[in-house]
Amino acid sequence: QTVDINLGQLDKGGYPHFMLKEIFEQPDCLTNCMRGRVNVDTDNVVLSAIIDYKKQLINAKRFIIVACGTSWHAGQIGKQMIENFCRIPVEVEYASEFRYRNPVITSDDVVIAISQSGETADTLAAVKLAKDNGAFIYGICNAIGSSIPRATNTGSYIHVGPEIGVASTKAFTGQVTVLTMLALALAKEKGTISSSDYLEIVKELHEIPEKMKKVLELNDRISELSRIFTYAHNFLYLGRGYSYPVALEGALKLKEISYIHAEGYPAAEMKHGPIALIDSDMPVVVIATHNAMYEKVLSNIQEVKARKGKVIAIVTEGDDNISRIADEVIELPTTIECLEPLLATIPLQLLAYHIAVCKGKNVDQPRNLAKSVTVE
Ligand code: G6P
Repeated sequence: QTVDINLGQLDKGGYPHFMLKEIFEQPDCLTNCMRGRVNVDTDNVVLSAIIDYKKQLINAKRFIIVACGTSWHAGQIGKQMIENFCRIPVEVEYASEFRYRNPVITSDDVVIAISQSGETADTLAAVKLAKDNGAFIYGICNAIGSSIPRATNTGSYIHVGPEIGVASTKAFTGQVTVLTMLALALAKEKGTISSSDYLEIVKELHEIPEKMKKVLELNDRISELSRIFTYAHNFLYLGRGYSYPVALEGALKLKEISYIHAEGYPAAEMKHGPIALIDSDMPVVVIATHNAMYEKVLSNIQEVKARKGKVIAIVTEGDDNISRIADEVIELPTTIECLEPLLATIPLQLLAYHIAVCKGKNVDQPRNLAKSVTVE
């Protein structure tokens, strides 16, 4: 079933575009996503799917995440959390590749299908293939009652409300939040996380919507910054660990709506190719928050500066080192490393948004792209 909607008929809530409205909705969306699931009073994370299908999930020998586009980026963050906390191997596959390459799937596998629309043809086909081969299927979707949730054994909705802008924003942070809750709840069941780590992350997850509001206060500053970079032809986005998928997502956002070529790279891979592209015309967005990889990412920034690249650094508040060498610095509140993507994504969404607006592009309906890709 499809419903034809004229975007003009929908309410943008005072914002000029749905995309900006949806970026600003994220703190409330995550509060809704966590409602009844993250309980700070009892220091607990409860996902009904884990209660109902505990045996299948905790006995999984492997997780395979299948998704496309932005949902695939969320999957990359989920992989790191599930491997870190649950000690279960996780593969993240493009659904379009997985469905056609005769993958090894067994009844010991749990396949996690991530899809905002719940209608992406490749993801749905990947789910059917995995199910036919005996895997247990867990869906992480937004659109209630859509095809993918109906084809899965169980799952968790992200509950972020309808997403209208073609470039996904609040669905991404909702997907990452559900994956965080899944990893925490499973790790607790399996006994693979210390109770102090578990409690610390649960408490901090609960604080994330408030911290997101702080990040959204940077909107005006990012809007100004975007004017400087509107005329760039290429952008590079760098990050490591949990920030690497954030770099991929930042680059995708810019490509989708501003039509500027952008690539996301794991920062340490820069020396194996992208460094050749760096000159004074090349803006490089680096996620350089204060975590285990900080020193290494700092040296990547120095390498970019030595080649006269323009560095826009996303840092943790109070960072003096990077503010001395980067061209522009965007400060984020402190949080736990695994939750940094929920904050670091926001300035990248805003940067892409404002650059596209400056270029006069159709932000909500970019050329050649569809919100829901129901064909191959
Ligand atoms: C399209 C959309 C993207 C989305 C991707 C996967 O390309 O424009 O924003 O990330 O499909 O969609 P899904 O609904 O499966 O998450």
